[in-house]
Amino acid sequence: MPVDAVLPWLDRWHTARDRVLASRRFQRWAAGFPLTRWVARRRARALFDLCAGFVYSQVLAAFVRLRLPEILLEGPRTVAALAPRLALSESATARLLAAAVSLRLAAPRGGGRFGLGPLGAALAGNSGVAAMVEHHALLYGDLADPVALLRGERPPTGLSGYWAYASASDPAALDGERVAAYTSLMAASQTLVADEILDAYPLGGHRTVLDVGGGDGAFLARVGARWPALRLLLFDLPPVAERARSRFAACGLADRATAYGGDFRSAPLPRGADAATLVRVLHDHDDEPALALLAAVWEALAPGGTVLVAEPMSGTAGAEPVGDAYFGFYLLAMGSGRPRSAREVEALLARAGFERIRRLATRNPVAASIVVGRRPS
Ligand SMILES: C[S@@+](CC[C@H](N)C(=O)[O-])C[C@H]1O[C@@H](n2cnc3c(N)ncnc32)[C@H](O)[C@@H]1O
Repeated sequence: MPVDAVLPWLDRWHTARDRVLASRRFQRWAAGFPLTRWVARRRARALFDLCAGFVYSQVLAAFVRLRLPEILLEGPRTVAALAPRLALSESATARLLAAAVSLRLAAPRGGGRFGLGPLGAALAGNSGVAAMVEHHALLYGDLADPVALLRGERPPTGLSGYWAYASASDPAALDGERVAAYTSLMAASQTLVADEILDAYPLGGHRTVLDVGGGDGAFLARVGARWPALRLLLFDLPPVAERARSRFAACGLADRATAYGGDFRSAPLPRGADAATLVRVLHDHDDEPALALLAAVWEALAPGGTVLVAEPMSGTAGAEPVGDAYFGFYLLAMGSGRPRSAREVEALLARAGFERIRRLATRNPVAASIVVGRRPS
């Protein structure tokens, strides 16, 4: 039967079902009936968590800003011991800790003391997450009126100032100050993604890797540490490339790592690499410039070379809200780009001339999904 013939029936069925689920009578019945009780409870909790999400995020912001991950990593502490260190009253400290315990950031440890909970411990071991949390203050400001943001009625957003290249007519003219904050954030959060990508696609079989939009070289430094024979090329805006040069010198990579500065929308990329990586770069750009960037990568790669696109993608199983809700609204506030599904990235790669396009599984799709393609030999 053609899809068009089935759709009206399906629509009618879905609407009838939604009306039943929306009815208070049904909800009360489902919450009491033994076979549906657990589903009803899970849904009620999920809906409450959606309503409360901003509050949870602000508890997390306070927890990070007051450096509780580091303090509690030293060992468990009582409220009385913590309050002066946090410059809070004892009752405010107890309130914050109760909230943190409920969110598994902290955990009671007996004797009135508190230590880290499982999520707090993961946070303490990862400065990248704390840096992400800190910069969210800008995002939340931009999202204060989400409908105005969707309608494009917001004045210049905080995030468009933070990610200065997103709205700059001449990004190559940005000075070091304008790129410093986002470049440090990206470097800090590489701890979350670099090994994830390199475990999924080990680069050891290549000779030269070009990291396009490579930031201050944190990703390539990790590549260089894992494969000592690889030659490393990086392309980014001039003041960002300058920071990469400093990093390469500081970690003893200066003899095999070169950073090039320029605007990849107009300047040619360095040629001859047999692998090119775009880590969290493509989704920053609308379709036309994204396609032009992939075409420039195709031009720069040696025949037979591999391109690797790694970023959180829309519709990723197990990480759906990361691509579609978080990055969808994040990039809207930033003022450029959109999250793409793996299928859309594959289509862009094909249009740019790549072949043998395939997806690679990552252990943690929250950090990144990966699509690779090959420039024909
Ligand atoms: C979201 S950051 C990702 C950085 C790095 N790949 C990472 O994952 O840590 C995007 C990078 O693309 C660079 N970029 C943006 N527009 C650019 C342009 N027109 N030319 C060159 N680099 C650009 C930015 O400076 C920034 O370093």
